[in-house]
Amino acid sequence: MADQNYDYDVLVIGAGPGGYVAAIRAAQLGLKTACAESRETLGGTCLNVGCIPSKAMLHASEYFEAASGGAMKAMGIEVSPKLNLDTMHAQRRDAVEGLTKGVAFLFKKNKIDWKSGHATFQDAHTVKVGDETVTAKNVVIATGSSVTPLPNVEVDNAKGVVVDSTGALELPKVPKKMVVIGGGVIGLELGSVWRRLGAEVTVVEFLDQLLPGMDGDVRKEAGKIFKKQGMELKLSHKVTGCTVKGKKATLTVEPSQGGEAETIEADCVLVSIGRKPNTEGLGLDAIGLETNERGQIETDHEFRTAVDGVWAIGDVIPGPMLAHKAEDEGIAVAENIAGQTGIVNHDVIPSVVYTWPEIAGVGLTEEQAKGKGKVKVGKFPMLANSRAKTNHEPDGFVKVIADAETDRVLGVWCIASVAGTMIAQAAQAMEFGATSEDIAYTCHAHPTHSEAIKEAAMAVTSKPIHI
Ligand code: FAD
Ligand code: NAI
Repeated sequence: MADQNYDYDVLVIGAGPGGYVAAIRAAQLGLKTACAESRETLGGTCLNVGCIPSKAMLHASEYFEAASGGAMKAMGIEVSPKLNLDTMHAQRRDAVEGLTKGVAFLFKKNKIDWKSGHATFQDAHTVKVGDETVTAKNVVIATGSSVTPLPNVEVDNAKGVVVDSTGALELPKVPKKMVVIGGGVIGLELGSVWRRLGAEVTVVEFLDQLLPGMDGDVRKEAGKIFKKQGMELKLSHKVTGCTVKGKKATLTVEPSQGGEAETIEADCVLVSIGRKPNTEGLGLDAIGLETNERGQIETDHEFRTAVDGVWAIGDVIPGPMLAHKAEDEGIAVAENIAGQTGIVNHDVIPSVVYTWPEIAGVGLTEEQAKGKGKVKVGKFPMLANSRAKTNHEPDGFVKVIADAETDRVLGVWCIASVAGTMIAQAAQAMEFGATSEDIAYTCHAHPTHSEAIKEAAMAVTSKPIHI
């Protein structure tokens, strides 16, 4: 039962994977819970305009490309696929609708009050949601993030020429020429979708490699693979201007470190240079809560902010901007509010890029691990994995990084068709403090892609069998 002084034990602001999971867990633990959301549907960025719709388009376009030749042809299946983009979009919208409604069902089932509207703090326990004033003993900020704008490049999703990720999910026709600004996760996933469907794609990336934050070998290999697939990569370049005339954009592109500018024309420009935490209009001033230099809300390990009774989780706090990180923090914050011990191990958060092949990693990169001490590294190519070879999926490798003295696994990186599924076993092993020997002596089913993880682990201390 709620503290008599407040309407609720817990009010969560934001119904993304952080917020809706926190609300469900709080309700499961017997706390009277409400969740405020300014969007019309629940599920946040992830379900509405992020993880789910992007994966719907990635999955469908992967089938389209497979049917267009390549692996299918090699397996004796010759077809000429015809693209029905309207149907492809419709199945994407269906997936989103089904899942967002699923969250609404879970809210009802768990007796969580959904407060529709933008939430603004009046004081630490009083929040205005639309026209309603709600009081709560604990308030969890789970307001997520939104697209970082690029100066001189104005996004207009309705026009469809210069778009952000939300606009790039909705393009009504396949652009002839697409320029992606930023060779990070969004640029490569959504760039892959439109390339597979027929667009000529150029990626302009400020740094000298794609995918910042990932292991160095992985970044190099990813560059080779995307080039081979037909993406043009303009590494060490930045976009400094954009003019739009009718349905065409002209971009000014310069070397990152200075030099001569050139122009590139495109029918569609995707701005994907990162995301920023959502704190505008939240009324943080009213509760005296400051953000750090990156605009994030800082918390302690229990997700308490500097203001008593106010907690924060997900994209709005430091750490990788990932749905599963937000979800785990949602569970932990609710448990902490309920007086239990909610913990998230931020050293073991897997990340996956859902391209073809998939790219996944958990723990330290080789560069980070070497910065901390002596390491041993084992690598195994997917070309030597029987299942990948049989499936005509030769690209990629698995890399296991272990402490040279203790053999404890510090990081695992994979490029493989199903790397996103494979990385789960690495995360679990690391969570249990596994050594590379533990993985090497674990029996893996044959023939599976996961055997490459076993072989890479064998390569750390001795020799893999199949190379
Ligand atoms: P969000 O999901 O952003 O939810 C916050 C919610 O709060 C929003 O619905 C917002 O409307 C609401 N809100 C904000 N301010 C207020 C306010 N003042 N009052 C009321 N409501 C408010 N991550 C993955 O792990 N895997 C993926 O495959 C993946 N793919 C992605 C693809 C794209 C195109 C994008 C853009 C992101 C992707 N992400 C992915 C990242 C993932 O979506 C985020 O990390 C995740 O949604 C963060 O969850 P959150 O709960 O912190 O915030
Ligand atoms: P990102 O941080 O992954 O990549 C942005 C890229 O843009 C970087 O490589 C950066 O160097 C580059 N860049 C920055 N300014 C530039 C400029 N002016 N010109 C050229 N390049 C520039 O950000 P992205 O792709 O926008 O994604 C945001 C977040 O969303 C990711 O950090 C990730 O956490 C999340 N996400 C996760 C997905 C997944 O888990 N599969 C999928 C999509 C998004």
